[in-house]
Amino acid sequence: MSKGLFISIEGPDGSGKSTQIENIKQFFCDKGIDIVFTREPGGTAIGERIREIILDKNCSEMDYMTEAMLYAAARSQHVAQVIRPSLEEGKIVICDRFVDSSIAYQGYGRKLGDAVAIINGFAIGKCLPDVTFLMKLDPRIGRRRIDADKQDRLEREQDDFHIAVFEGYLELEKKYKDRIVGIDASRSIEEIKVDIYKKLEELLKGVTG
Ligand code: TMP
Repeated sequence: MSKGLFISIEGPDGSGKSTQIENIKQFFCDKGIDIVFTREPGGTAIGERIREIILDKNCSEMDYMTEAMLYAAARSQHVAQVIRPSLEEGKIVICDRFVDSSIAYQGYGRKLGDAVAIINGFAIGKCLPDVTFLMKLDPRIGRRRIDADKQDRLEREQDDFHIAVFEGYLELEKKYKDRIVGIDASRSIEEIKVDIYKKLEELLKGVTG
């Protein structure tokens, strides 16, 4: 579908994803390569407004299907307004979370199953990342890194929810071996960065020849 390169970064809350995203941005900056960096839920004015609703800890009555549809709605806008046009212009798009988050969190965590892939099919069409980095860290460890008073509505869920999410991610890694690159996120920031940079170098070779 596209001429560009689409990279997403996934993982449980507290897995060190944000730190490695900064490293990924630095990788491209050092090479003088422009990227489009974006995030989910969000990435557009409409998506950021949906994000506020979804993550608001006061929206505790939110139905799980409503939650799944709000993530998909934000994604639909994001794909239409930012991701697809950027890829069609041949740009490199780096996205903090994408559809795998919905499969893991809503499909496995909320146990909505296949409905999540179906509603997201409407949102993304054929737009899937070329490569997805999956930060693999036991969610019980990851969540200890987040201050209790700073936790959003999803982060406040119990351990069994986060464990189901993580299992979902591991299933996705098995299912999409060619796309998802599992990263052992229990190691040092530097060791993780070395792994990611190696993969990014390979990817760039593939793009630039
Ligand atoms: P963030 O903290 O990485 O910005 O993500 C916000 C939260 O939303 C995080 O707990 C994961 C969750 N999430 C889903 O449950 N489904 C989704 O589709 C996405 C994109 C995020």
